[in-house]
Amino acid sequence: MSERIVTMINAEQIAARVKELGAEIAREYKDRNLVLIVVLKGSFVFAADLARAVDIPLRVDFLGVRSYGEGTETSGVVQITQDLSRPIAGEDVVIVEDIVDTGLTIAHLMDLFRTRAPRSVKVCALLHKPARAKVAVKVDYLGFTIDDKFVVGYGLDFAEKHRNLPFIGVVERT
Ligand code: IMP
Ligand code: MG
Repeated sequence: MSERIVTMINAEQIAARVKELGAEIAREYKDRNLVLIVVLKGSFVFAADLARAVDIPLRVDFLGVRSYGEGTETSGVVQITQDLSRPIAGEDVVIVEDIVDTGLTIAHLMDLFRTRAPRSVKVCALLHKPARAKVAVKVDYLGFTIDDKFVVGYGLDFAEKHRNLPFIGVVERT
């Protein structure tokens, strides 16, 4: 069995949308204490581009999370593999996620962060698959809404593969 990756969103489309998201965030957080919290590992590519598109002072921190085994179905259990390096009390948090699928990860992170008394918490996700929602989550800054397909590339993996693709694609087995 061989694998073929079909492009869903190309690098130019991603770059254009990320610039828009960055400009929007920069406008809204101009006089605030912005901290981008990057949800690892999937968001590392998106966050690197997004941070450079937000042209105001900000802080970046990382949170390691694991919600999947080796498969393509979420286990529903969100495991923190690496915590933030500093407190977020009084700061304006934007969680940077690669994709909101069932919504379980974001819902869990919102609950977790709220216990740490930030001034505000919003969500910026590159992708959203509303067809698979199990809990309602509000995505404040959204790149693209996509169909119920398992996607890879631009940081997203399938069993740790394909994170380095410069575009978003769908794995097809032939
Ligand atoms: P949720 O908790 O179901 O919303 O899933 C969130 C996490 O699952 C994302 O941050 C991704 O890391 C992963 N995920 C969900 N859908 C996909 C996909 O289509 N491709 C790769 N990873 C995915
Ligand atoms: Mg993720």
